[in-house]
Parts: sequence; structure tokens; C-alpha cells
Amino acid sequence: MAIKDIQQEILKLKKENDICILAHCYQSPEILEVADYTGDSFGLAVEASKVGNKTVIMCGVRFMAETVKILSPEKTVILSNADAGCPMAEMMDKDVISEVKKQYPDYTVVAYINTTSELKTVCDVCVTSSSALKICQKLDSDKILFIPDRNLGSWIAEKLPEKEFKLLSGGCPTHAKIGKEAVLKAKEMHPDALFLVHPECVREVVELADYVGSTTGIMDYARKSDAKEFIIGTENSIVTHLQLECPDKMFYPLSKNLICSNMKATTLVDVLNCCKGCGGEVIELDEETRLGAKRCIDKMIELG
Ligand code: 13P
Ligand code: SF4
Repeated sequence: MAIKDIQQEILKLKKENDICILAHCYQSPEILEVADYTGDSFGLAVEASKVGNKTVIMCGVRFMAETVKILSPEKTVILSNADAGCPMAEMMDKDVISEVKKQYPDYTVVAYINTTSELKTVCDVCVTSSSALKICQKLDSDKILFIPDRNLGSWIAEKLPEKEFKLLSGGCPTHAKIGKEAVLKAKEMHPDALFLVHPECVREVVELADYVGSTTGIMDYARKSDAKEFIIGTENSIVTHLQLECPDKMFYPLSKNLICSNMKATTLVDVLNCCKGCGGEVIELDEETRLGAKRCIDKMIELG
């Protein structure tokens, strides 16, 4: 079966079975082409909560499917590939953070959206990479325990010197493994290119950027910019998507190693199987966990 035949079958089945397909922008182009919505993790969950379909397939990683379920408990939410987890989201659990909180009782716990639903139940507010700065700024508290991403946390802490931050040593293994040498090499090869980076990268990399932002932030910046060349410091699928969308511009990966194997776990056949009702994993959250995690997300919406 050719890729376009599989895509046709998916489009037919999703209509027949009242399915909405969400694809995170780190997914491959053939998956994005069959999706109803594409974008960043939080944007997708918000879109899903507005649609009337009874089933939602999330092509991304587990915490993203959980976020969809938190906001849309009445829908059947399917994670397209049951093995697709985010190592950063699974790095810290509820029990560990509950213990850490005892050491910092007067700190507000700010959780990056890349956390499990269970962990969110013991946190005060969620943030995304695009809303983190604004939300930390708006919080009444000037003492913040930021989890789990040390790199994102230290980037924000630097921008808010009036607040005290405690950071733990979590982070994204894909973004954090890229060092300054990769930036210097890419800049040497493409001296006229602007360097756009995700704040999950290490500080010495972020310091060299022309723009720092979330996946959608990076894409919007590149679309609107008058510049013609860009080095992209986030998952390499963004290089492909931008190149397809803006053929008059040039996009270069910061490193060939910026590939998230979890985001790449989902295939078009996985999506087809989910549409047939024989693939993926149906996300179930008990009501106590869902409501505990939702409190954290509602606070983000209120402040953001
Ligand atoms: P976004 O929230 O920007 O979609 O990022 C999710 C992610 O996993 C980044 O590595
Ligand atoms: Fe998680 Fe990093 Fe993959 Fe994003 S890129 S899903 S943070 S492992």
C-alpha cells in the first residue's frame, strides 16, 4: 500500500467513525497531512476540548494524550503508539516531588506541561515553554520550585532576578545533549542564518540564539521573519515542516542528532490502526487524578 493510499483510508475512517486527529508538530509530514489540528502540546489539548467528535487520536507522546483527556473527559482519547513516552515527563514522580516540597514549604511548585497527570496533582501551576515566563512573573509568590526542566527553569530564572528559583536536575535528553560546539559549527557553515532555539537546550546554546521560544514560537518567528536562512535548534522535524511551508527560505538543523525517538515512534500505520479501532492505547485517568491535574492547568489558563 502506498503512503497516499494509507492516508486516504485514514481520512475515510476518521469521517465514518467520528474521529479527530491531533498531531504534535514533531510528527512526520505524512501524519501532519491527515491531522485535523497540528501544533504544540497545550494548543492541541485546547483544540480537542472544542471539537464535537467522540474520539480523539493524539499523535505525540503520553503526557500530551493525558492533557487532552484532562480537558475532555467525555471523549475517548487514544495515544497513537502506546510506547511513545516523554523521558523528561517520566523523570520525576509524585512521591519524589512530595518529599522535595517538604524541604521548600514556602515555594510555589511550577510544573512544565511535560509532566505526568499524577505529578501535576501535587503541583501548583502548569506552564508551557511559551507561557512559562509570563506565568512565573504573574505568580504572587517570589519563591518558585520549577520542575522538571532545569534548562527551561534557569532561562526563566535569569529573566526574573527578583524571584528566587529552586531547580532540580531534570530535562529533555534530546535537546540537552547538544553543546555550544554544534552552534559554532552551524554558524560557521551558515554565517547569514538566524539561530532559533527551544529553551530545553542548555544555557550555553540558548545564549547564542537570535530567538528563544516554543516549537510554535520558532515556527511563527521563521514564517514572519524577513531573513532567508535559519538554523533550527529543536527537533529536526521542524526543519522539514518549515522547509515545506516556506520554500523560498533555507532551514538547517543545529545537529543531525536532534531527533526525539519517542516522537518518531508513531507511524502512519499506527494512525490507521487507531482509526480501525485496533491500535494505540485508550487513556484512562481516575477522576481524582484528572481533577487534581486539571486544577494545575486551570491555574495556567487563569494566569496565561
Ligand atoms: P511544546 O510544548 O512546545 O509543544 O514542546 C513539547 C516538547 O516536547 C518539546 O520538546
Ligand atoms: Fe520529551 Fe524531549 Fe521528546 Fe519533547 S523532545 S517529547 S521533551 S524527549
